Amino acid sequence: MKQLTLKIERIDQAYQQAIKDSTTLENLELVRIQFLGRKGEIAQLMPLLKDLSTDEKRIIGPALNQLKQSAEDTYLLKKEALIAQAFEQQEARNKDFDITSYSPLKSTGSLHLYTQATEKIENIFLSMGYSIADGPEVETEFYNFESLNIGKNHPARDMQDTFFLNIPNMVLRTQTSNVQVRTMQKRKPPFAVICTGKVYRNEATDASHDYMFRQFEGLVVGETISLSNLLATMRLFFEKFFEKKNLKIRARPGYFPFVEPGLEIDMSCPFCSNGCSTCKQSCWIELVGGGLVHPNVLKHGGIDPTRYSGFAFGFGLTRLIMLKYSINDIRLLHNGQKEFLEQF
Ligand code: DAH
Repeated sequence: MKQLTLKIERIDQAYQQAIKDSTTLENLELVRIQFLGRKGEIAQLMPLLKDLSTDEKRIIGPALNQLKQSAEDTYLLKKEALIAQAFEQQEARNKDFDITSYSPLKSTGSLHLYTQATEKIENIFLSMGYSIADGPEVETEFYNFESLNIGKNHPARDMQDTFFLNIPNMVLRTQTSNVQVRTMQKRKPPFAVICTGKVYRNEATDASHDYMFRQFEGLVVGETISLSNLLATMRLFFEKFFEKKNLKIRARPGYFPFVEPGLEIDMSCPFCSNGCSTCKQSCWIELVGGGLVHPNVLKHGGIDPTRYSGFAFGFGLTRLIMLKYSINDIRLLHNGQKEFLEQF
């Protein structure tokens, strides 16, 4: 019994000390578990009672209860004190919090490369007498395909993995060419427009593909529009956009159902004179599809193909930007990371 009394005293002392040393609520919780927990030091004393005589139990029993009760009281007092102290510390910190120190000027963003390039391209074409056209991103199959001479079962539909919507005949536009017939229906020739915007393709994302990217489209309709007008326009545009004189262009036959003849137009590499990694050592860069507007497309737009002709071209705006600024991963353009975008 003597031993047990000593043990109770020692535990009490150790407990008082541990409580005193607890400076945070986390410390205090550890002390509570160590002494007052279900398997704590005080709980472990209880089974020892049964080995004592009845007389001894009469003394030790209340002593143990007393130990437990006072330990709990001490714990609660300390807990209250620590909560009050944490509150005071928080108040003191709040006092130093200066809402006027927020300076919006320090965290301004920058214009996204898409915005910068779009403005630049629009200005180049505005200076050539073009105006800006616009069309919807949620589009009918008619404007995205049929009106462009791409019939229901035309294999070219497979070339552009389309997002079909749950609404019959509606898609996310796969190309800015959707503005062609919309523009023809609204304007009388002669006219010259460009349209920049987002297009969507149902394909997996990697360094050079994303389900959304940007294109821009040009359309000129008049009485004597020819391929040489298209080629001259492309050369002028390249020189202004890449800020380099004497760029050469070359044209190869290309198939797009809405132009006849159709061309793929390449530009001499603006970054080197005898081969580099950007032009894959070929000194040429493939950039744009174009051609003379197909008579069927003019008809869909309500324009008489025996009187008028036109040219159209379509660029990957995303690709143009990646090329100009040597960006090798499309995801950098699309993930909105301020640190990356601020460089431009
Ligand atoms: N819409 C085509 C595409 O997404 C690009 C294109 C090619 C546009 C030829 C044109 C054109 O206006 O004449 O691949």
